[in-house]
Amino acid sequence: MSRDLSIKLGRLILKNPILTASGTCGFGYELIPFLQELPGAIVLKGLTLEERKGNPTPRIAETPAGILNSIGLQNPGLRQFKEDVLPKLCNINTCLIANISGNTIEEYGILAEELSQLPEISAIEVNISCPNVKKGGIVFGTDPKEAYKVVRHVVEKSTVPVIAKLSPNVTDIREIALAVERAGADAISMINTLLGMKIDIKTGRPALGNIMGGLSGPAIRPIAVRMVYQTAQVVKIPIIGMGGIRNIEDVVEMLMAGASAVAIGTGTMIDPTLPSRLVRDLDEYCKQNNITDWKDIIGLALRRS
Ligand SMILES: Cc1cc2nc3c(=O)[nH]c(=O)nc-3n(C[C@H](O)[C@H](O)[C@H](O)COP(=O)(O)O)c2cc1C
Repeated sequence: MSRDLSIKLGRLILKNPILTASGTCGFGYELIPFLQELPGAIVLKGLTLEERKGNPTPRIAETPAGILNSIGLQNPGLRQFKEDVLPKLCNINTCLIANISGNTIEEYGILAEELSQLPEISAIEVNISCPNVKKGGIVFGTDPKEAYKVVRHVVEKSTVPVIAKLSPNVTDIREIALAVERAGADAISMINTLLGMKIDIKTGRPALGNIMGGLSGPAIRPIAVRMVYQTAQVVKIPIIGMGGIRNIEDVVEMLMAGASAVAIGTGTMIDPTLPSRLVRDLDEYCKQNNITDWKDIIGLALRRS
């Protein structure tokens, strides 16, 4: 592959615009054997200051065009991450982006400060959008003032680029996007999962232990495309688009909606080779369509509507 697929997202430079989405490929090292071409970045599983055991099981339920999850940010906490996980990440030859959540703004700050000092970590993604935890997460992502405060604090504490991850569970995504841009985020990630529910009709009980969960996969893709399109109209910072991407046509659509990069979540859980295939497919798509610079696709639909 000879084409230059690199992309600049604020201060962050990636070798290609295909990323993995947080929480869908663990801390990344288990995925590496499946990847011939490395994605531009691996976004790590969500981290909190203290260990989290997650929500009661079952925590995954299938739906006709996606999955519901209510993991609840299960993770080993910052200290165990540094001791046990970090040594496994030092030889991965692509950018690693940490994904952080907290109960308080101060917790986000501590995580950002400590993680940005680690040479393995290229950027911090601030999860203000998790629908599966009672405190923090989505509380910060549904109020523009709170979103501003937490992202501003992270920007002040971090020495690496900061990406704000937005929730689709809001009335107007543009208000939140503008708030995190004002707070100094280098880029925006969108979308996180949509709150959904499934009932087991044999038992009459909710299928998830936590009753409700986050919907991801192809079912949410048109919503993600719409929200990326709306957001790209109002912000100047780059957008990483995600939600149900399964093939190169989905990637191209997300880029045309205004995303400068894409992340693959549920698709990777179904086929772990997908991110690396999409890197090759983007190159092939450009060749077949006589596109010299793939970046010309970004925001095409905005210019043509
Ligand atoms: C099992 C699972 C765990 C997730 N965990 C996180 C997480 O820890 N932090 C986060 O910001 N997003 C998390 N997400 C959301 C994904 O990163 C992504 O935004 C969402 O699934 C939409 O993309 P997709 O349809 O390609 O999966 C999780 C999604 C799934 C399915």
